[in-house]
Amino acid sequence: MMPHCAAHAARRAQLLGRMQAGAVAVLGTAPEVPRNGDSDYPYRHDSHFYYLTGFAEPESCVVLVAAQGEHAGRSILFCREKNVEREIWEGFRFGPEAARDAFGFDEAYPIDELDARMADILADAPALYYALGSGVALDARVAGWLKAVRARGRTGVTAPQTTHHLLAMLDEMRLLKDEHEIALMARAGAISAQAHARAMRATRPGMFEYEIEAELLHEFRRNGAQFPAYPSIVASGPQACVLHYNANNRRIEDGDLVLIDAGCELDGYASDITRTYPANGRFSDAQRTLYELVLRAQGAAIAAIVPGRPYSAIHDAAVRVLTEGMLDLGLLDAGKVGSLDEAIASRAYAQFYMHGTGHWLGMDVHDVGAYRDVASPDKPSRPLLPGMTLTVEPGIYVRPGEGVPERFWNIGIRIEDDVVVTDAGGRILSVGVPKSVTDIEALMRKH
Ligand code: GLY
Ligand code: MN
Ligand code: MN
Repeated sequence: MMPHCAAHAARRAQLLGRMQAGAVAVLGTAPEVPRNGDSDYPYRHDSHFYYLTGFAEPESCVVLVAAQGEHAGRSILFCREKNVEREIWEGFRFGPEAARDAFGFDEAYPIDELDARMADILADAPALYYALGSGVALDARVAGWLKAVRARGRTGVTAPQTTHHLLAMLDEMRLLKDEHEIALMARAGAISAQAHARAMRATRPGMFEYEIEAELLHEFRRNGAQFPAYPSIVASGPQACVLHYNANNRRIEDGDLVLIDAGCELDGYASDITRTYPANGRFSDAQRTLYELVLRAQGAAIAAIVPGRPYSAIHDAAVRVLTEGMLDLGLLDAGKVGSLDEAIASRAYAQFYMHGTGHWLGMDVHDVGAYRDVASPDKPSRPLLPGMTLTVEPGIYVRPGEGVPERFWNIGIRIEDDVVVTDAGGRILSVGVPKSVTDIEALMRKH
């Protein structure tokens, strides 16, 4: 596998190769965000910036200058200077010189020199690649640089005539994961799977949901993951029907199902797993019936992951299995919703399955990249390609209601795994936590 900085340098080279000759790209990282008083939220770099640099310090900016004529392409980092005083309080900073060498840049300068240097870098560049709307502060600075270059017009200098949307290019690059990224995502998936198994083993009726959340966090951190990739959901009993529940403060009762949707972020990459299991270690008949239906839907959806097939085939496969099951079990009344195809066409299933079957996964849990086929807008969705990573997460959520069989009331189930598309089909990255009824019950009997 390529060393870390080589993977990031290769991405910069790829972007430079796609840019117009002589053009300049500018991308800043995320700001530090105050939480309360003088405390900040834990710092998290911008995903696009990190993708191109591997550099995680705040107050940084990357500038790429595409090759033109005899001038080779250049990649330049602006970052904080070394500062002995601040480093005593806040810890190590690379400083431009060490960052340039460690991260493979051609040049690096103090971030305080950004304004002064950008007017020179942009002089005579034909185009600027920038994400307008990156933030009021950086937008204003970019406008200032352009103004400064135009002001030199009488000396014969020209300012960029065109701007391109930088993120649209980066989104498409990020959608196809390289070997370095897939290895990291598999490690993140394995840590999260281990955390789910630990949570299952720890669960007893009478515990609070937050005690189970603590087990997840313990396992994430113990294995070096820096953060949860998104707020962990530990939803017992009826709370499992609340899709983004994260209060995690209910007391778990005997007979409840527990739905956990949680995944760690490891070195900037997310994992995203959901498991649903009985708090007392044994599924009731009604719980098992619905669980096995969702599991079949997930199996059908994963089987639809074949390079060349449209992304939408995954959701379509899950919906077909779930809707058929809803009709068989009397959750949907064929007298009212008609045949299977009619129930699918009218989206009758949405009463119990109201979300999509997944999303791209990467540095962001809901990762970047278009779902539609931009090249053929008449097609519903783009074809799957090796290197795309996504979640497969069908579910069923039964709120009490008229005509809804009472034995299913308040059952909420979702099963979610992370999958990379390969030439041979989908390869699951979130391995190591049981999923079948038999395996879940066996794991829980062991404690
Ligand atoms: N955990 C967020 C999601 O499943 O989409
Ligand atoms: Mn998800
Ligand atoms: Mn999830």
